[in-house]
Amino acid sequence: MKQTEMIHVEETTARPEQMADVLEGCCEDILEEYERRLRDIDSPLLAEAETREQLKVQARAVIRDAVGILRGQPLSAYQEDSLSRRIGISRASSRFRASESLRAGVQLFDSALLLVVEKLPPDASQGDVAQVASAIQRSMMYRIARAWASYNEHLLRQVHESHTDERRRISRELHDRVANSLAVVHQNLGLYETLRDGNRSRAEEKLRLVRGVTQDALASARELSAELRRSVVREGLEVALSNLIPAIVPRNTQALVSVKGDEALIPDYVKDELFLILREALRNAVAHSKANQIRIELSTDPCQVYAAVFDDGQGFNPGGKGFAPGTGIEAMKERAHLLGGTCDVLPESGAGTRVEVWVPLERGR
Ligand SMILES: Nc1ncnc2c1ncn2[C@@H]1O[C@H](COP(=O)(O)OP(=O)(O)OP(=O)(O)O)[C@@H](O)[C@H]1O
Ligand SMILES: [Mg+2]
Repeated sequence: MKQTEMIHVEETTARPEQMADVLEGCCEDILEEYERRLRDIDSPLLAEAETREQLKVQARAVIRDAVGILRGQPLSAYQEDSLSRRIGISRASSRFRASESLRAGVQLFDSALLLVVEKLPPDASQGDVAQVASAIQRSMMYRIARAWASYNEHLLRQVHESHTDERRRISRELHDRVANSLAVVHQNLGLYETLRDGNRSRAEEKLRLVRGVTQDALASARELSAELRRSVVREGLEVALSNLIPAIVPRNTQALVSVKGDEALIPDYVKDELFLILREALRNAVAHSKANQIRIELSTDPCQVYAAVFDDGQGFNPGGKGFAPGTGIEAMKERAHLLGGTCDVLPESGAGTRVEVWVPLERGR
């Protein structure tokens, strides 16, 4: 059932109508002051044209609604719902932190109050100012709450997708490494039966092949099952990363893991996601770089975790010839974003690739 939320101004002795006129009259000045303040604080929300435009439309709507509140007009909960919803989704998908929107909100509130106070009639009371402030705050909180809900919903959907991707990867490995070997076994057992009576030596050859392939399939199944059972949380990141090396790095490539700081400072869910990010960076180095040396470094303090994977391979040129975008780099960035951090893949042509991950911890947020 479609609900309607009503927001009313409480009875006071002040003159809300007059205050509404003052607020409405300085709307354009407020928007100008707001943009100037956002530039002063170097808000990343100004960097993209789409976000810049959204800020303006949203700020205008906040003031219009605040004017409406002062005039005693009811606010329908579904009025403008789509704007706040779109803003929430686009901020989450452009990887803006939620705190940037709150920082912008504070600037809008301060700009509006500053300009209203300047334009107040000489007989205005503290009650008048309080009433305008309350109307702006309500109007803003109303929109922030809506945008916040869709921002979170979008992030939850991304978490779900990244778990689905992980399941897809395991299913692909089961198919490629185990099911394909079993198909070879099945086919060669058939050939063995056909050749057994007429060509004994070729039949024996098929049997030897079947033995070899069965052993490989068994090893792959064990590796995959160990990977699924592996608990980064129980083992710790240093051990989990060190165990990963013999499983995926070829013997002729040198690989090192170094961990500085106390891992116990890192919450379990951060450890899990960091492991998946670093594993993809390592897989990429192994699959694409032709490196002789790969280094994984991790350092942590109570405020943040910093991790990097370096390889001395051939590097690559994103968007250049021969570059084929996959899902790995995108997934690493998404996972880091979900933790409120960043992941940069920095290829240096001919000089290898550096993947840098930064995640703030509770005390650093
Ligand atoms: N360390 C690296 N050295 C050289 N090239 C790299 C490196 N990491 C990534 N690349 C290049 O970037 C491309 C995209 O990497 P990405 O991980 O997104 O996809 P992928 O590894 O090809 O496939 P998948 O979706 O299975 O991860 C790779 O195909 C490769 O060309
Ligand atoms: Mg990859």
